[in-house]
Amino acid sequence: MNLRLFVAAELPDDVRAALAAWRPDDPALRAVDIAGVHVTLCFLGWVDEARVDAVGAAAMACAAPVGELAVREGLWLPPRRPRVLTIALDDPDGRLGAVQQAVVEAMVAVAGHEPEARPFLHWVSYDAYPREDIGAGFADNHAFASIIGEGCPFEAVDFDLGLFIIAPRLFYRDHHHAAPELYAPLTGPHGWRFKPGDPLVWKDADVPVWNNPWEPHATMTGDTPFLAIFCWTKDTSQPAKIIPSPDWPILENAS
Ligand SMILES: [Fe+2]
Repeated sequence: MNLRLFVAAELPDDVRAALAAWRPDDPALRAVDIAGVHVTLCFLGWVDEARVDAVGAAAMACAAPVGELAVREGLWLPPRRPRVLTIALDDPDGRLGAVQQAVVEAMVAVAGHEPEARPFLHWVSYDAYPREDIGAGFADNHAFASIIGEGCPFEAVDFDLGLFIIAPRLFYRDHHHAAPELYAPLTGPHGWRFKPGDPLVWKDADVPVWNNPWEPHATMTGDTPFLAIFCWTKDTSQPAKIIPSPDWPILENAS
């Protein structure tokens, strides 16, 4: 059996109590059990149960005094499409950082952990759509990598530019968003429509598409993977929303 594991440092009771008193009381936020609030040192994911004792022993061997730490401001993660409210910690002597580094190295050795290398292009999938709304086909077969934006290799505020890829013969369902959007496709042709239910219009590679705020659009990828430069020029923290259309099954069966 596999177990989902992470290595963490516990916070003192009085610090957890202070965080519980500080955190916003907002119905849009789901409060976690304050007893479980911790400092994650290394996320391992699924690990074979047979390795748990060795992982635990290796983690405990890294334990060391970290001196005085300070709780700083709240920190939303990930920065561009926040889903979790975290707390920044001050580690003035770098001793907590040193413990974390030791834990990561130990987990590489004992748990086969692969530290994130943070390549220049950090490919992720867009997670703002409920899976049942966007469909499994798109959810599992697309990725984007931001190059200019918040937390990107080139920093910019409320601006997002990067590369977007979708597998061939897939329908990216009708959607819209507050952000004005440019697509500059490098491959093609791919099908587009700008109103749910409309027929698709096929555009060659290098024909740019501009979507004004909240203007509906959908894309049917052709025989080659869809690869485009995308750009959201503002309102990048506002999530895109799906617009249902009854012809999706026909389009998705044809694709
Ligand atoms: Fe879009």
